[in-house]
Amino acid sequence: MSMTTTTSGARDRVLIFDTTLRDGEQCPGATMTLDEKLAVAELLDTMGVDIIEAGFPIASNGDFEAVAEIARRSKRAVIAGLARAIPADIARAGEAVRHAQRGRIHTFVSTSPIHLAHQMRKSEDEVVEIILKTVAQARDLVEDVEWSAMDATRTGIDYLCRCVEAAIRAGATTINLPDTVGYATPSEYRAMFASVRERVPNADKAVFSVHCHNDLGLAVANTLAGLEGGARQVECTINGIGERAGNAALEEVVMAIRTRGDVMPFETGIESTLLTRASKLVSHATNFPVQFNKAIVGRNAFAHESGIHQDGMLKNAETYEIMTPASVGLAKTSLVMGKHSGRAAFRSKLGELGLQLTDNQFQDVFERFKALADRKKHVYDEDIEALVDENLATAHDRIRLVSLSVIAGTHGPQRATLKIMVDGRTITEEADGNGPVDAVFNAIHALVPHEAVLELYQVHAVTEGTDAQAEVSVRLKDGERSVTARGADPDTLVASAKAYLSALNKLSAAARRLHAQAI
Ligand code: KIV
Ligand code: ZN
Repeated sequence: MSMTTTTSGARDRVLIFDTTLRDGEQCPGATMTLDEKLAVAELLDTMGVDIIEAGFPIASNGDFEAVAEIARRSKRAVIAGLARAIPADIARAGEAVRHAQRGRIHTFVSTSPIHLAHQMRKSEDEVVEIILKTVAQARDLVEDVEWSAMDATRTGIDYLCRCVEAAIRAGATTINLPDTVGYATPSEYRAMFASVRERVPNADKAVFSVHCHNDLGLAVANTLAGLEGGARQVECTINGIGERAGNAALEEVVMAIRTRGDVMPFETGIESTLLTRASKLVSHATNFPVQFNKAIVGRNAFAHESGIHQDGMLKNAETYEIMTPASVGLAKTSLVMGKHSGRAAFRSKLGELGLQLTDNQFQDVFERFKALADRKKHVYDEDIEALVDENLATAHDRIRLVSLSVIAGTHGPQRATLKIMVDGRTITEEADGNGPVDAVFNAIHALVPHEAVLELYQVHAVTEGTDAQAEVSVRLKDGERSVTARGADPDTLVASAKAYLSALNKLSAAARRLHAQAI
């Protein structure tokens, strides 16, 4: 079944196409495991996302499996698989989305002169032929076919119209005109859609779609301008993750449309109270922290600090608040429980936070919660989320932290004694360093020799207070592959060791997958 947009009352329904699991996962270090992808897809489906782009099936067996499994489990959303304009890609995408109640093949080819000359090395006529053949092939496999003109915003309008006409003639039901390199301005992007829709004779047979990258910080502005130009599908990602500077952020587009309905006659089917949960889930799955001042879902998005603002807020929230925290699902951080809290209370807290665990996972997380409550006076929602993340991320780890002690202080060198377990075998090492973190990482290096380079080391406090858990993010790059991982603990050095070991586990899991694929 192909998708059309509808009008309810005076508002046009805008389709939300989420590409967190494809364009989002494509950014360096954002790799997610199958379980993480399934959890994200389930929440997107529940939230009312119309189309979930679940991956790029030809890219790897892992990608194929993820798209196929998400397709099997999808309840409401259309599940899309990406394919280059290559017959084998399209066949693989068709196979992956076959089990979806509603599957879509999303195929793309470059159209700009610079891509044609240097990347494709094809003439304009040759590319039009490719479009006709590949879109027709996709249409033979599924009824719902999206075609994208890669680098549309740097393509001459005459040639762009010719390509769009050909794609629709060959059976495309959605036409996406991406600002692939984040170069367009809002007025240019609006005009491109208006012009293509006016000039292409069969334009009324397809839904037009926007897809904006954020290189100049204009992704959301361009997205909204594209809607003004007549597009009715928005491609976006949770937290705006994606290639380079990212994609348009789903939560920003949805809340802009909702909050400024007075100037934008649109509506989406998104349940906005799930936006905060989706942001946290994606941040945890990718290990990409959300910047504090990020619109809608940043930690400070609803925090009022200055005296004048606080005074206004106390008198009437509308003085400084254009949307309520509740409308994006932001509950006030609540004090949870302490060391006397029992299993039933803990289980009900997990339910409240939307965290689902198997019995084994529950047992493990509950024990860790008890251990934390022994060391920390107040255990907050964020602490529990960090425990659950850690449990999910480390369930299949080969390398585990057993113990760590560090001598630190003004008189260096600092010294770490580290005990870890690798495939069930315990090994110990002592190492010096230029500072305690360096000493810990040197000890890890000695125990698990590797070539990966540390690209990022970041610490932040999960909650407030001097006994807050530290959450450390570590990004390691090994050749072409880079992974990000997190570790949390009231002791910053222990959190650092956990994060580094978790990144090594991720690298080793990825290497094993590649090895299995090669065999
Ligand atoms: O940015 C882009 O052009 C893309 C296409 C694959 C749609 O992500
Ligand atoms: Zn993109």
